[in-house]
Amino acid sequence: MQTLSIAIQKGGSGKTTTAINLAAALQLLGERILLIDIDPQANMTQALGFTEDIEPTMYQLLRCVADGEEVNLNGYIKVSASGLPLIPASLDLAAAEMELVSVYGRESLLAGLLPSVTPQYDIVIIDCPPSIGILTVNALVASDAVLMPLQAEFLPMKGLESFMRSMKTIQVRLNRRLQLLGIVLTRYDERKEMNQRLTKTLIERFGDKVFSTKIRTNIALAKAQEKGLDIFKFDRRSNGAIDYAALADELYQKLKKE
Ligand SMILES: Nc1ncnc2c1ncn2[C@@H]1O[C@H](COP(=O)(O)OP(=O)(O)OP(=O)(O)O)[C@@H](O)[C@H]1O
Ligand SMILES: [Mg+2]
Repeated sequence: MQTLSIAIQKGGSGKTTTAINLAAALQLLGERILLIDIDPQANMTQALGFTEDIEPTMYQLLRCVADGEEVNLNGYIKVSASGLPLIPASLDLAAAEMELVSVYGRESLLAGLLPSVTPQYDIVIIDCPPSIGILTVNALVASDAVLMPLQAEFLPMKGLESFMRSMKTIQVRLNRRLQLLGIVLTRYDERKEMNQRLTKTLIERFGDKVFSTKIRTNIALAKAQEKGLDIFKFDRRSNGAIDYAALADELYQKLKKE
C-alpha cells in the first residue's frame, strides 16, 4: 500500500479537486483506493456528496486514538455515491489542532492506524488543509509521498520553498521515507503567457518533479463537485476527465519506478 498526501501551503490550489479526481482515475485503472479528508473545511467530504452532520469523522477518530482507545479504521470508512471509499472530515476537526497539543506521539496518530487497512487498499490519498499544522503533519508522517498541486496563475515560489523546508524537517525528524512525488499545474490555460512562464520557471527549478500532465481550467470540475460526483461520473468526455486520467497514468508510472 502506498500513501499519498495532496498538500501545499496555499489555499485554492486544486488539492481537493486533485485528490477526488485522481482517486477516481486510479480506481478506473483497477487500483483499490481509500480517500482520507484531514481538512477541517471538509471540502472533499462535501464534494463527494456527504452533508456536514456526517458521523463519525476524522475528528472522532483522532480523539479516540489520542485517548488511547482501540480504533478500527474500517468503522470510519463511508462509500460515496460515485463509489469512492472515504474517511470524512467535519468542521470540528479544527479543534483537533488545539486538543492534540499535549498528546504524546501526536504527530503520528494517523500513521499508527493505516497498517490496519493495508490488506484492503492499494493507494491511500489524503486531502490536506492549506496550512502546516498538526493535521497536515499527521498526513505527512503517514505518507510515502507528497503531490503538490499548484495553480498556474501565480508564482508562489516563496510558499513553495517554505513548504519544501517543512517537508524536509518532517523527513529528517519524523518520516524518512517521505518523498516529493511531484508538482502538478492546475487551472492551466496555455493561451496565457503567464502560465507558460510559470511552467518554465518551475521546470528550471524542479526538473522532472514537474508533471508533464497539466490540469486545464475546466468548469465541469467545479460542477461535478456541486453534484457530489467525481469528474468521470459527471462528464467523462470533459477536459477535466481527460487531464485527470492522464495524470493518473503519469503518476502510476512514477509510483511503479520508485
Ligand atoms: N482545473 C480546474 N478548473 C476549474 N475550476 C477548478 C479547477 N481546479 C479546481 N477548481 C475549482 O477551484 C476551487 C478551488 O479548488 P480546490 O478546492 O480543489 O482547491 P484546494 O487547494 O483544495 O483549496 P483549499 O486550500 O481551500 O483546500 C474549487 O471551487 C474548484 O472547484
Ligand atoms: Mg481543499
